[in-house]
Amino acid sequence: MSTVLNCDDDAIKFASSLLNDGKVVIFPTETVYGIGGVTYNDDAILEIYRLKNRPSKNPLISHYASFEDALDDVVPNDIAFALAEKFWPGPMTLVLPKKANSRISNLACSGLPTAAIRVPAHPIARKLISYAGAPIAAPSANKSTHLSGTNINMICDDFCQDDIYIINNGDCQVGIESTIIDVTNPEKIHVLRYGFITEEDISSVCKVANSSNSYHDAPKAPGMMFKHYSPKNHPVVINSLECSKNDAFLDFGDHKNITCKEYLTLSKNCDLTEAATNLFKMLYKLDNTDCEKIVIAPIPNEGIGIAINDKITRAQGN
Ligand code: TXA
Ligand code: MG
Repeated sequence: MSTVLNCDDDAIKFASSLLNDGKVVIFPTETVYGIGGVTYNDDAILEIYRLKNRPSKNPLISHYASFEDALDDVVPNDIAFALAEKFWPGPMTLVLPKKANSRISNLACSGLPTAAIRVPAHPIARKLISYAGAPIAAPSANKSTHLSGTNINMICDDFCQDDIYIINNGDCQVGIESTIIDVTNPEKIHVLRYGFITEEDISSVCKVANSSNSYHDAPKAPGMMFKHYSPKNHPVVINSLECSKNDAFLDFGDHKNITCKEYLTLSKNCDLTEAATNLFKMLYKLDNTDCEKIVIAPIPNEGIGIAINDKITRAQGN
């Protein structure tokens, strides 16, 4: 059975002691909840893969208190420093070459010569890393293929049978995962996964080799090859205003008069940031209603909309 902790200092200290004992805990970040263990501990990493049913070929992101701390484990370059300066702490992950003497578990990197690192902004994630005194490897807190967990209901639904502690801090503010940027080769910067930080944001710092137009031809993070973000109970149809009286409708904007059984809107005012925050939790809510399918309204494929469309395309299963 999972156990929910509150987010006071004692709870975070207790969770950090579990991490130092090689255990795994679920904790909030500004993007989505993470299921984490000490990056340097093979047993903890194996336990993360087991709990998530995650393919071992899908590497994990290590979370550090600062970029400086991460320099124990990865080889930086000027572009990485510039991106870190602009977007950390925050919802960005950088892929860099691993140092020869890096202590990151090879299992966390799926044997790759590179590592994905992130400096989260969430105060609880930051405290947890600081109290543990070590980086924390953490994928999103969901069973493999399910919606990424952004609140306690979603997480308990996936992990209630598991012997794990969960630090509850309500809804995640960003609501979708970090933007992953491959900066291994500073001459060729690739966005591997779009997220809250957009291509325009990144372009203010450096040239991006793939643009969102060619995103689907660009190299991918290994995890992007796998099935993802599937509601458990109902099929999803995207980019549609064709909805019947037995369907759940996930709106973008305010199509109030549409025929449907259940209605939620990602953003009444067509705000893409608000839509990202609401995406996973609203999909989860509608998936737990008695509908035939979930129909999602068209969402502009620009800015954060690129990340949203990528996720709902995967939810639809194409
Ligand atoms: O916002 C986030 O990034 C959240 C929070 C918890 O930080 N984490 C997250 O982790 O989304 P996860 O495991 O769901 O996604 C990690 C992605 C996967 O697609 C994986 O393939 C990619 O990062 N990745 C990890 N290491 C990599 C590497 N060395 N090269 C390329 N991609 C890598
Ligand atoms: Mg994930």
